[in-house]
Amino acid sequence: MNKINVSIVGASGYTGLELVKVLLKHPRVMIRNLAVRTDAGKPYSELFPILKGQCDQKCVDIDVEKIANASDVIFFGLPHKTSMEIIPQFLKFGKKIIDLSADYRLDTEKRYINAYGVKHLDKGNLPAFVYGLPEFNREKIRQTNTVANPGCFPTGIALALMPVLQAGLIETETILVDSKTGISGGGKTPKPAFHFPECNENVAAYKVASHQHEPEMEQELSKMAGKPVDIVFVPHLVPMTRGIYNTIYTRLTKSVTAAELHNLYRKWYQDEPFVRVLEKGQIPENKHVAGTNFCDIGMVISGQRLILMSAIDNLIKGASGQAVQNMNVMMGLDETLGLN
Ligand SMILES: NC(=O)c1ccc[n+]([C@@H]2O[C@H](COP(=O)([O-])OP(=O)(O)OC[C@H]3O[C@@H](n4cnc5c(N)ncnc54)[C@H](OP(=O)(O)O)[C@@H]3O)[C@@H](O)[C@H]2O)c1
Repeated sequence: MNKINVSIVGASGYTGLELVKVLLKHPRVMIRNLAVRTDAGKPYSELFPILKGQCDQKCVDIDVEKIANASDVIFFGLPHKTSMEIIPQFLKFGKKIIDLSADYRLDTEKRYINAYGVKHLDKGNLPAFVYGLPEFNREKIRQTNTVANPGCFPTGIALALMPVLQAGLIETETILVDSKTGISGGGKTPKPAFHFPECNENVAAYKVASHQHEPEMEQELSKMAGKPVDIVFVPHLVPMTRGIYNTIYTRLTKSVTAAELHNLYRKWYQDEPFVRVLEKGQIPENKHVAGTNFCDIGMVISGQRLILMSAIDNLIKGASGQAVQNMNVMMGLDETLGLN
């Protein structure tokens, strides 16, 4: 069977490394180019010794024509604001593109400016990108060449809320979302708050009700609900390397029993390979999804309140695993290839 030629631009980052680890296990993939900004010429395993003997191929410069001509699929693990400078140069080659940054997730430039504080350099291509949450947009992903991979916070939050939003079972005016994230969510470049003595044995909220993922969530959750959804999002940095844990406080629009709600979730996700609805009364834990592409969901009803909890690995279902899941959908492959 023919192999799919895959390249990664920004291969030297955290999501790049996770992409390589997943793609090495993928039976249909040949990794063609590991493109980097600063370490071209070095073996990939010199950057990441964990892959010694498994991925010793040399990193290359970001040579647009060479990479595009050699690839069927190109992943981009670049910072936001950089993706929109580099991706337009690749688009004319008509290859499948999966961007892990936030640059093509928002539908309009206005939203982008609100979230990221700068003009979008490639706003004409925003409509061409499909928001890559397969559980919501599978058919659109199947038909597109360009996918904007969702943010790590929005992924777990959207999967937890989608069934009740689409069923009209919760109020959409004020959904309170409390999230905890591990340190790798910030990428490999050191920042003071992520310095070990600062974050070890510490918990702190940050970007309270002003995080750049909030507009992304409101955009996608509103599509699910068919009406505007307003959320209050408070992320916290906690001393773990990877993982995201969401606790979501909502109000039910009508009385439902815990069993009815649980059944709704079970049915909703029964054919989804990567969403696990836990047994009634069970609470998700980050350790149970670490290193996997799973999103675990738990729920508790207290009077008219519904409290949802979800856990993902930020680097897998929140980034590189989901990106490979999207590639599988785009290429018409079994969605779980490389991910089980
Ligand atoms: N970390 C997560 O949990 C997570 C989850 C979901 C989405 N994302 C998104 O995924 C993207 C990558 O995240 P990450 O955590 O992998 O970041 P990272 O660890 O900081 O890696 C960034 C990569 O981009 C390259 N790069 C930086 N500036 C560049 C420039 N001006 N030109 C060319 N290459 C440049 C870096 O190359 P050098 O090595 O040469 O500096 C590195 O390969 C980001 O947009 C992030 O928001 C991250």
